[in-house]
Amino acid sequence: MDEDKIVEQREFLKDSLRQTINFRFTDQHQGIEPPPVQKPPHPEQELIPLPGQDEWTPFRGTDLLDAISNRKSHRRFNSESLSLAELAFLLWSTQGIKQELAPGIALRTVPSAGCRHPFETYLLISNVEGLEIGIYRYLPIEHALVLEKKDKDLVEKLSPATLGQTFTAAAPVTFVWTAIPYRTEWRYTTAAHRVILMDVGHVCQNLYLACESIGCGTCAIAAYNQDLMDQLVDVDGTDEFTLYLAPVGKC
Ligand SMILES: Cc1cc2nc3c(=O)[nH]c(=O)nc-3n(C[C@H](O)[C@H](O)[C@H](O)COP(=O)(O)O)c2cc1C
Repeated sequence: MDEDKIVEQREFLKDSLRQTINFRFTDQHQGIEPPPVQKPPHPEQELIPLPGQDEWTPFRGTDLLDAISNRKSHRRFNSESLSLAELAFLLWSTQGIKQELAPGIALRTVPSAGCRHPFETYLLISNVEGLEIGIYRYLPIEHALVLEKKDKDLVEKLSPATLGQTFTAAAPVTFVWTAIPYRTEWRYTTAAHRVILMDVGHVCQNLYLACESIGCGTCAIAAYNQDLMDQLVDVDGTDEFTLYLAPVGKC
């Protein structure tokens, strides 16, 4: 074990870096426009509207106390599909926008350092009612999906992309959160990266609790093949890359 390397790496966990930054030189302070709160869909992409809150009533009602006490990581899912309304509820719980305050600033159902929300949500869907197999992306402003790519071989690709964690391939849907670091760097420059990792924890915890409340289960996944996952969701690996995954299914 390289003790020096370990001690050096621990520095990343501390907020000491912030003291070295001159915030007068951030892009925000220089008056540069904030990046958009979501990656805009391609003009030719058709939006798939998602059911709103009034259509979630059939599965509403599980107590928060129960959801918190029952929360655990699930790695076995039954063969049932998810309904579009259930998926809509999980997406809103994790990245839903409650209010747009100004261009580039929106309040969501999860907290984020400086309200920067640096994530996109991709969905690897193999068994959701009404949706064909493929890779989708959530548009929180419109509360809609776009189909990024049809991919019949999706399930076969998931297992190697998650380092042989075969239960990911058995899930009807896998959430993949990518980071667009500039959204947070715009405000915090080099102090952005530590808080981006904190932010994504809140997102996944909301998914755990929301799943628990509707008879679904999930499991956080931080171990994956970076290149294969980035290829799968078709991101460049520099300005946007995979950060965290969570397969979801009925339990
Ligand atoms: C940051 C993070 C990364 C994780 N990565 C994986 C993973 O790659 N594969 C996996 O099976 N579980 C993963 N887990 C789930 C943990 O193994 C699990 O939370 C832990 O064993 C405690 O079990 P519980 O969630 O049921 O309480 C991860 C959890 C967290 C918070």
